[in-house]
Amino acid sequence: MLILVTGGCGFIGSAVIRHLIENTEHNVLNVDCMTYAASYENLSEIPHIAPRYIHERVNIIESDEVRRLFTTYRPDAVMHLAAESHVDRSIDDPGIFIQTNIIGTYTLLEAGRKYWTELKNEKKEGFRFLHVSTDEVFGHLRPEDPPFTEQSPYDPRSPYSASKASSDHLVRAWHSTYGFPSFVTNTTNNYGPWHFPEKLIPLIIIKALKGQPLPVYGEGKNVRDWLFVADHAEALVKAIEKGVPGETYAISGRQPRTNLEVVRKICALLDELHPDPTGPRERLIQFVPDRPGHDFRYEIDPSHAEQSLGWKAAHDFDAGIRETVKWFLAHEDWWQNILDKRYTGHRLGVGT
Ligand SMILES: NC(=O)c1ccc[n+]([C@@H]2O[C@H](COP(=O)([O-])OP(=O)(O)OC[C@H]3O[C@@H](n4cnc5c(N)ncnc54)[C@H](O)[C@@H]3O)[C@@H](O)[C@H]2O)c1
Repeated sequence: MLILVTGGCGFIGSAVIRHLIENTEHNVLNVDCMTYAASYENLSEIPHIAPRYIHERVNIIESDEVRRLFTTYRPDAVMHLAAESHVDRSIDDPGIFIQTNIIGTYTLLEAGRKYWTELKNEKKEGFRFLHVSTDEVFGHLRPEDPPFTEQSPYDPRSPYSASKASSDHLVRAWHSTYGFPSFVTNTTNNYGPWHFPEKLIPLIIIKALKGQPLPVYGEGKNVRDWLFVADHAEALVKAIEKGVPGETYAISGRQPRTNLEVVRKICALLDELHPDPTGPRERLIQFVPDRPGHDFRYEIDPSHAEQSLGWKAAHDFDAGIRETVKWFLAHEDWWQNILDKRYTGHRLGVGT
């Protein structure tokens, strides 16, 4: 297949492209307009990428350009990951989230639908459109609630999750109204190599390495269900190969942890792998005022996705976080360059 991947220079999109190039025969058209969150380096370690890979620097809200991509390249499938993805930024500046996540998804769906309508025979029957979404669209869980599943009702609570929920509804509507072969995956928090430093895990690793205070929102009791990004990439590729139009797949690695547990684990790993002569890193933990409207707990029961896609996360949290910490120790050039030019590590999303 030629797979049109949107957002392929971002964190998860680049993991998807690495997986496609290294483990499958599929070719890739990467559509990424290179926002602050994108890096060309994310794809630099794939050997001999050129013959199987094309990058088009296109913004997905530009309908003429998106149409051109479909008619020029005639893809067999779309994996849609391009988005504004940081909750804290959505609190400070929601407008771009509405543009990219809602209007961008709509633009891609319409261009995809017009292209698909004109396809014939097997090319038409085989075409798939996968929309990659988040568990945050389901709102949040209390400690006693069972994990989210594909049946969980929508209850988004941040501008980010509301924009993703909106795009999920569009994708489903294009399937039920037009028979467009689209479907949705909802996944828990990812972590791993090439994670942009504004997110909790890379931020804590970097600040701990620099001996800076480690900001933990509220009391650190909020729970996230952590999935190693390479495992997510594998699940998404299985989904584009086997996924059924109109379906939903709720994906996780069954690894819920409180934020405080995550931060403590990172401190312990750094103390082991890169000791600080002035003392254990836990001394740097600093509780800071909570994020406005901070969702308490997300967790997914991935049984349906595991059974129907024949997939299971290969890494538990201990294995994945060790690999991640080692990766950040070995790639200081990459994250320091981002800190110098694009994001200084300052607090975002205080809601003022
Ligand atoms: N990171 C997570 O934990 C997580 C969990 C579940 C779902 N998701 C979803 O997975 C997808 C990828 O997340 P990520 O963490 O890799 O995000 P990211 O912010 O790291 O990367 C997003 C990429 O999309 C590109 N992009 C943004 N706006 C664009 C536009 N208008 N046109 C073209 N390209 C554009 C950016 O340049 C960037 O390369 C998103 O849809 C996100 O909602 C993320």
